[in-house]
Amino acid sequence: MKDTYLDLVNGPLKQIAKTLGLPQPVKLQRFGQTPAQYLSAPVLVLGTSPGAQRIADRLLENDFEVRRHPGSGESLRAVIAVFDDAREPDDLSQTALELGASLRSLLPCARVISVSQALRPEGQDPEEAATAQAVTGLTRSLAHEMRAGSTANGLLLDGVDVDAASATAALWFLLSAKSAYVSGQLLTVSSTAGEEIRAAEFVATGDAGPLAGRTAIVTGAARGIGAAIARTLARDGAQIVGVDMPQAGQALAAVMNEVGGRTLQLDITSDTAAERLAAAVDNQVDILIHNAGITRDKLLANMDASRWDSVLAVNLQSQARINARLGEANLFASGSQVVSLASTSGIAGNRGQTNYAASKAGVIGLTAASAQAFGQRSGSINAVAPGFIETDMTAKMPALTRQVARRLSSLQQGGLPVDVAEAIAFLASASARGINGQTLRVCGQNMVGA
Ligand code: NAI
Repeated sequence: MKDTYLDLVNGPLKQIAKTLGLPQPVKLQRFGQTPAQYLSAPVLVLGTSPGAQRIADRLLENDFEVRRHPGSGESLRAVIAVFDDAREPDDLSQTALELGASLRSLLPCARVISVSQALRPEGQDPEEAATAQAVTGLTRSLAHEMRAGSTANGLLLDGVDVDAASATAALWFLLSAKSAYVSGQLLTVSSTAGEEIRAAEFVATGDAGPLAGRTAIVTGAARGIGAAIARTLARDGAQIVGVDMPQAGQALAAVMNEVGGRTLQLDITSDTAAERLAAAVDNQVDILIHNAGITRDKLLANMDASRWDSVLAVNLQSQARINARLGEANLFASGSQVVSLASTSGIAGNRGQTNYAASKAGVIGLTAASAQAFGQRSGSINAVAPGFIETDMTAKMPALTRQVARRLSSLQQGGLPVDVAEAIAFLASASARGINGQTLRVCGQNMVGA
């Protein structure tokens, strides 16, 4: 659904909105929309550790303009603040303050990325753990302070250093327009798995794209977020098998025609769903996107069994059963990658959505607990939790609730289906296999359950 207010404050109502102190969301630069002037602007890398220097070197090798010292007065496309060697709270001060001083030089839709150690409570020195956790507070708060479509996110290193392939890939993702609607999030890299990728390859498309040569099954692909996932994965080079209910057959065929994909009409709750999915890809499931989902909202006091059971069956049990059956029957290819749709409702809870939130929180648990098995097959499993996304589902909300939901995020607008799809395409790529068991929110840092 179109966000008319966003158009108006970027057009005729700009001055009035400013005078009245109304929210002034900025049109985000998405993939393919970034001005050349932005792309050629420098990235400032702050921090004195060897890791900071290695990140600066990596950026230079990938043709970024790089600065190592603040205060040049130039406009910046990004600041990367590297805290990877911080061991006590005092170690944060210099880089944090330099970061603060550089914020006014950021271009619109710029990026701030913190890089730090992940919290590892078992065996970690308490002061070191406190310092690690402090960086997450800094990053999340800074994301709330960002203006003009800019974002702040963090990269957490869990037993790996900045050279890990997925740490580099995560930097490309967070620096790129593909993460336009991701803000206030921390992404953990926990292994050196993953293929090295250059920045130019990360944004290449078609046969040169990061998913070239791979086949992706996308459930619920007939419309909404699922259709956007199919288009984005196809753009990045994947062959698509789109799955949806027989009733949605026509819409599914239209999307698959557009992306040159194949259709599979299937109810994912059916007993033979796993076997039919596998059969559609010669019993070698490579990329599987569990996107199909439903809502049947009611307050718990008014909840009936059909609402509760159907939501749990589609959103959670089908995923769990399909993963288990494919795993038991060795139908996952080596290096296979699964990405599931969770929701911010599954993190924060939402009135009227006990069934839906239970199913989506369940997906987060399922993902975390499946990581080890996928890692052993050299693959990964992750979830993406969208916030308010402009789809048929959110178009049904009452107008005022919809307006409030849009503005209650740091980016002051709803996301688009493509924003969710971009995060999924990244997590499904071979370069991201060192990220495993995570849930990444794509919510513009929605205030609900932040
Ligand atoms: P949608 O309702 O527009 O599309 C869902 C698709 O899944 C439909 O094509 C439907 O036919 C298909 N489907 C439903 N049950 C199925 C089954 N048993 N077997 C096969 N296909 C089935 O939904 P939307 O908005 O695109 O959401 C996609 C996913 O993203 C869902 O998992 C949803 O819970 C999640 N999500 C959406 C948000 C939003 O703001 N729209 C926010 C957070 C999460």
